[in-house]
Amino acid sequence: MSRSAHPAGPRHADVLPEGHHAAPAEDLNALDPKVWAHTVGRDADGVVTVGGITVTQLAEEYGTPAYVLDEADFRDRARAWRTAFGTDADVFYAGKAFLSRAVVRWLHEEGLNLDVCSGGELATALSAGMPAERIAFHGNNKSPEEIERAVRAGVGRIVLDSFQEIVRVAHIAQTLGKRQRVQIRITVGVEAHTHEFIATAHEDQKFGIPLAGGQAAEAVRRALQLDGLEVIGIHSHIGSQIFDMSGFEVAAHRVVGLLKDIRDEHGVELPEIDLGGGLGIAYTSDDDPREPHEIAKALTEIVTRECEAARLATPRISVEPGRAIVGPTAFTLYEVGTVKPLDGLRTYVSVDGGMSDNIRTALYDAEYSVALASRTSDAEPMLVRVVGKHCESGDIVVKDAFLPGDLAPGDLIAVPATGAYCRSMASNYNHVLRPPVVAVRGGRRSFGPHPVRK
Ligand code: LLP
Repeated sequence: MSRSAHPAGPRHADVLPEGHHAAPAEDLNALDPKVWAHTVGRDADGVVTVGGITVTQLAEEYGTPAYVLDEADFRDRARAWRTAFGTDADVFYAGKAFLSRAVVRWLHEEGLNLDVCSGGELATALSAGMPAERIAFHGNNKSPEEIERAVRAGVGRIVLDSFQEIVRVAHIAQTLGKRQRVQIRITVGVEAHTHEFIATAHEDQKFGIPLAGGQAAEAVRRALQLDGLEVIGIHSHIGSQIFDMSGFEVAAHRVVGLLKDIRDEHGVELPEIDLGGGLGIAYTSDDDPREPHEIAKALTEIVTRECEAARLATPRISVEPGRAIVGPTAFTLYEVGTVKPLDGLRTYVSVDGGMSDNIRTALYDAEYSVALASRTSDAEPMLVRVVGKHCESGDIVVKDAFLPGDLAPGDLIAVPATGAYCRSMASNYNHVLRPPVVAVRGGRRSFGPHPVRK
């Protein structure tokens, strides 16, 4: 899903003359800061280090595969989003990208809010001390039990996703003697330029209530009449791994248009709009994501302009970045098990994890980078496909990449930018265990399981 997979010219076997593969221009030992967490580097022996710890040490202590998370980088990115949006807007980290109790604590300390989309995520957030009023609860089919738990806890907002849910939440809140703050999620009819499975603003899909045909307006009409609800705003999330701001522009235009219609019909100016998450990150050197301050500036300007045109007071904006905060902060560390050259094709490098720890390549054709991590090498580059250990030929971690030609069993390799939607979408396929998450900071493990020496 990177916009282009091939920073150094073509890498696909199919676009090259048979038996030839363009060697990459970049140094295979280099670690592009665009795709690696901030504290990643190599020590004097060429071993990759993160947060002051070598990957060889981490592999020895925790085994492989392992998700390695750079706490300082996570905090930096969270803070950058917070600062970029200032005090006039709210940043809700999307927990679906990656959630653990330690991460909830970091977010709390850095002043972010949290978006959860299941009772499990809600329980994690509350148990780690996130104040309920800083939690937004999402989902297209929240169960009555989940809704009740959220209302009882006092979550700051529930994002309503259907006509049935409007009634359900109102009823539960009223039964509990509460008035629940809610936003209504609408689909604005934008085609986001991303993979079909992660585009969420076109109308033919399960999320939200369509703006088209007056359905969203009808949802607001009904919600405003219910005593159990306090309608605070409109929500739109157009998709994920998006680089182009034009989709957000159209979405903001249409959301503000609805606010204006609501004002004209009901005499009410809803005080908030949420423009969702979805900002892209660099999976390969070819991707050029925008910085949080640029995004904040662009979104704020769009909303302010649209509101001025509609003669509305500018509502409080919120955003929900997940991937853009956690994605670049982690890499997955694997040990090479076998190296299988297929003449004239490519070399298959099998690692000790695979689609159970990163389903994104199989599911979305996602593109990743990879580097030899336990040493450097000056050997000639070889075209590889990094595959997992599962009983499935689509079990691919990195589809096309170059690694040094002397790669051998026992080497450690690392795949960067796996912080988002890898561990959170992990499975136990083939009864393979989920990898541990080890967070490091300033030469120490800041959280993780107890070390298991191999
Ligand atoms: N807000 C809402 C309402 C969402 O549905 C999502 C993501 C986000 C925020 C956060 O989006 P982000 O900033 O992380 O792109 N599994 C897919 C991504 C699914 C996204 C689901 N919703 C992937 O691996 O690419």
